[in-house]
Amino acid sequence: MKPNLPPVLILAVALPILAGCASSRMLDLRAVAPVQGDVQAGARKIELCSACHGKNGSSPVPAFANIGGQKIDYLYWELVEYQRGANPDSPMTAILRSLNVSDQDLRDLSAYYAAQAPAPSSGDPAAFAQGQMLYRQGDPARGIVPCQGCHGTAADGRVDGDASRYLAYPALRGQHEQYLARRLTEFRDKTETLMSSNDHIMHGVAHNLDDEAIRQLAGWLQAATP
Ligand code: HEC
Ligand code: HEC
Repeated sequence: MKPNLPPVLILAVALPILAGCASSRMLDLRAVAPVQGDVQAGARKIELCSACHGKNGSSPVPAFANIGGQKIDYLYWELVEYQRGANPDSPMTAILRSLNVSDQDLRDLSAYYAAQAPAPSSGDPAAFAQGQMLYRQGDPARGIVPCQGCHGTAADGRVDGDASRYLAYPALRGQHEQYLARRLTEFRDKTETLMSSNDHIMHGVAHNLDDEAIRQLAGWLQAATP
């Protein structure tokens, strides 16, 4: 599956990123080495995480991210960002900063959650037909690029044989609608620190989304993707 973004839209997304990468605090994820961790060792470290994310990474609370079946590289780099203080208000920041969590712990935890099954879909996809259209085709008139070019046709984060630049691009399937909508709003409104090159990419995408598009996309992703 080739990402099919019109060149003009690619440019619209890429320019702010290049500008952003000039900043020295930027975490450059454009060509990172694949993350490796020990699943068994990770399994012995999840006690605290389970309280909010569930034992297998399917969280019982829709505001808490599902992390089971997420890509290892995405999980690891999100944890690094929290540890570096990207979102001071998140409970994740306090947890990762106070507990003396090592870099190896982050790798093992990421490996463990990546090895779990994603949460099953729930809801009625027919209620979010507009979301499906936006995900697959975007809406050039509104400057909305198709999501599948970067997040995969099945929303599993697998694109074009997983070339290294897509390594840390997340899966969106198996995710809570409420969490997805909040993240899209944060990317659009820049209410969270854009710490990595990938954050800037997603901000470039989200800044043309209105609340209705976000609702449709988040609803469709929770309802229709396995
Ligand atoms: C007190 C509840 C709580 C605990 C405990 C907790 N988390 Fe979280 N976690 C959250 C919330 C809430 C979010 C959603 C984003 C935010 O608010 O920053 C999140 C987000 C994440 C994300 C980012 C998910 C994404 O899709 O971007 C990862 C990865 C993660 N947590 C892993 C962990 C790990 C590993 C542990 C154990 C060391 C842990 N969490 C413990 C509440 C918690
Ligand atoms: C040009 C590539 C690109 C396109 C197109 C794109 N995304 Fe993203 N998206 C990313 C990257 C990279 C990230 C990871 C950002 C980070 O590291 O936090 C991301 C992150 C996300 C997240 C956060 C996931 C989580 O677990 O917290 C959501 C939600 C999301 N994208 C939804 C969408 C939707 C909906 C669309 C279509 C309107 C879309 N994306 C189009 C690259 C893209």
